[in-house]
Formats: sequence, C-alpha cells, structure tokens
Amino acid sequence: MNTDILPGGRYVHGYSERETRRLGDQADTLAALLHSDTAYPDGSRVLEVGCGVGAQTVHLVAHSPGAHIVAIDVSEESLERARARLAAERPGARVEWHRADLFDLPFPDAAFDHVFVCFVLEHLRDPALALAGLRRVLAPGGTITVIEGDHGSAFFHPDSRYAQATIECLVRLQAAAGGDALVGRRLQPLLSEAGYTEIVVGPRTVYADRTRPALVEGFIRSTFIAMVEAVRDDALATGLITAPDWDRGIADLRRTADPGGTFHYTFFKGVAVNPR
Ligand SMILES: C[S@@+](CC[C@H](N)C(=O)[O-])C[C@H]1O[C@@H](n2cnc3c(N)ncnc32)[C@H](O)[C@@H]1O
Repeated sequence: MNTDILPGGRYVHGYSERETRRLGDQADTLAALLHSDTAYPDGSRVLEVGCGVGAQTVHLVAHSPGAHIVAIDVSEESLERARARLAAERPGARVEWHRADLFDLPFPDAAFDHVFVCFVLEHLRDPALALAGLRRVLAPGGTITVIEGDHGSAFFHPDSRYAQATIECLVRLQAAAGGDALVGRRLQPLLSEAGYTEIVVGPRTVYADRTRPALVEGFIRSTFIAMVEAVRDDALATGLITAPDWDRGIADLRRTADPGGTFHYTFFKGVAVNPR
C-alpha cells in the first residue's frame, strides 16, 4: 500500500479524534471555495477516493443529491466515522462505502462517470501512478476532480521565520514519509503525465483577517495551525527543530489569527477528462 507512513509506521496526520475534527472544520470552512462548482448529474456514478472521515463526502452529497456516490478509504476506522457523519449531517442520504486501496480497486473497468480526489495525492509516493490507475475505473469521457493544498503558499503577517520553520517541519516530515505537502503546484503536470486531457487547474485562495472571523477561526486556527501543531512530537523527535523554537513558531502562527494579523493559503483544484 502506497500511503504516507512515517518511519515509525504512522500516517503523517494520524487518525485521532482531533484529526477527525480538523478534517471536518477544514471541509466545512472551505465548502463554498472548493465545492461550489462541483455538481454531478442525477444518476451518474461518482467515486470518491480516500474519503477519510467523510468530511468532503457530506458536501458532495449536498451538491449532487441525485448522484450515486461510492466512497472508499483504506482506513476502516475512518469509514466508520464517515458513516456516522453522513447519518448525522445528511440523514436519509445514501453513499456506498468500501474499505479499499486506491491502487487495487475492487470495481470493474469504466464503473464510474466521475472520480473525486481531495487531499489524498499529497500522501502518496507516486501520485501520477495513482491518477493513471484511476483511469481504469473511470469511463472514457468521464471526469476526474482533484483538490490539493500547497504549504509553500502559506504567507502571513506578522511574518516570522520561527512560524515558517514549523511549517517546514511538516513539509519535511511528509516528504520523509514519501508524500509531498507542496503537491498543489504539480497538479497540471501530474494529470498530464497520467494521461488525462482537457486539464483545467485553478488556484483557490483562502485569505483571512479580522474582517473574516469565520475564516480566522475555521481556517487559520482550526485547520492550518491545528495541522502543523499535530506534528510537534515527530518534529522534535527527529531533531528538525528545538522545543523553544517550535513553541515560538506556534505562538507566532497564532498571532496571525489575532487582530492585526493576516493569513494567505492557496489550494489548487483540477478537473480533467479521461480520453476516449
Ligand atoms: C488527509 S485525508 C483526506 C480525507 C478526505 N478526502 C478529506 O478531504 O477530508 C487522506 C485520506 O486518504 C486515505 N488514503 C491514503 N492512502 C490511500 C490509499 N492508498 N487508498 C485509499 N485511501 C488512502 C487515508 O486513509 C486518509 O483517510
């Protein structure tokens, strides 16, 4: 299985309750930015790859209530949480859940009209191979939608080299585990290498300051800082940073969410066609 596992055998973000909450906050805060232009026709067959705890699934269902959505993940624990989330947030909605590895999907060729992949490529050793493999289950002429972040796009005020160093720790830990936290900027070439055509990739920028309190709380604090903070133990254990520098960096990141602070981050969303 080609997933993002740290040398200690752990997935970089982990599967904790806290990470479940963070994925939910992230998806809910960014729903308009990331999902508003994704709607699948009634009756179409849609595969969500790496659905995790269902944080994006509930938004897919909301925008495409008549589509037949199938969601897969390697983590049974995450799938359990995804089922519970859907039942709580979209009672009556139907999604077919499968525990499966995206590199070994248990579906026939051309089983789906559309494939949706969000925040998964960043965790894979060979994202082009993954994208190419997904073409097998996608009907000719069908579309793939891919959404990824890029931690190199994070800049903020007040600037701080300590804050940047904490983000760099996450980037390096993810790289050491075979992933790429800067994958967003590579979406177009990756989709092209995988054989897709009609590729359209666009930036989706989050900008937050005190005039956008929902983004300050939902994105800066609950999504971005929470994600960086979660790798503290690994960053210290691997000697990437000292504890005082880490604590100063996190304090500086928090300052960007205070009045007078600002924060910028760019996601990338790509849509492409599986050629006939
Ligand atoms: C950061 S989470 C994103 C979850 C969800 N897409 C979201 O945006 O909230 C990445 C997910 O990809 C899953 N994953 C990683 N490698 C996978 C693989 N080879 N096959 C299926 N799922 C995989 C992980 O288990 C995890 O749930």
